[in-house]
Amino acid sequence: MSLSENNLHTEFHRMQDRRTKEILFQQRAHVFWFYGLSGSGKTTIATALEQRLTYQGYKTKILDGDNIRGGLNKDLGFSDEDRLENIRRISEVAKLFYDAGVIVICSFITPKRSLREMARQVVGEEGCTPIFAKASFETCAERDVHGLYAKAKAGEIKNFTGHGSGFEEPQADDPDWILDTDVLSEEEALIDVLKRVHPVIEFESAITL
Ligand code: ADX
Repeated sequence: MSLSENNLHTEFHRMQDRRTKEILFQQRAHVFWFYGLSGSGKTTIATALEQRLTYQGYKTKILDGDNIRGGLNKDLGFSDEDRLENIRRISEVAKLFYDAGVIVICSFITPKRSLREMARQVVGEEGCTPIFAKASFETCAERDVHGLYAKAKAGEIKNFTGHGSGFEEPQADDPDWILDTDVLSEEEALIDVLKRVHPVIEFESAITL
């Protein structure tokens, strides 16, 4: 244990726990973790989901790669080591919101199974669902929303996911949900995900404090 850890005085016992917040908000807290290649549609669907749930009265928070990397994680790049630290910090932030009773919607490439597993371990397995925005490298490169695939091909971006840096798809026995954004329209993908999200976040009874 480091000296600074020795001098920590946590106040968790005095804080309102997640259950109390869930009763107040009348919702089950959860972390929905969208992942997939750049341009796979994960942020589009995550944003649409957050907007829909917010309008329906749920307390939500979205965490997105480009935003977090412009602030909290602006010291990090795209080496394997930095991606690990990126996801580790974001998992901890997601857990803070989760413990506050909030529905957290994350959108990060999260290119390795071990990174997705780490996020689930940090949040707690029952509180975190990874959702794979499944689109092939070819589809994403064709869409090339931000021109990054062209730049990677020209050698202007190193360690680009799918071009110099790997991406692992989920395996059959992983608990991950799969959204086939190669096939589904944005609206269809949103309907599909909403159908699966609602049973997870629905508060089970009208218990009040
Ligand atoms: S992750 O691999 O660590 O999960 P994250 O989702 O935070 O990545 O960031 C991905 C975003 O960073 C992409 O949407 C893209 O806009 C930008 N980006 C810049 N350089 C790279 C790169 N080398 N590989 C992937 N994305 C990159």
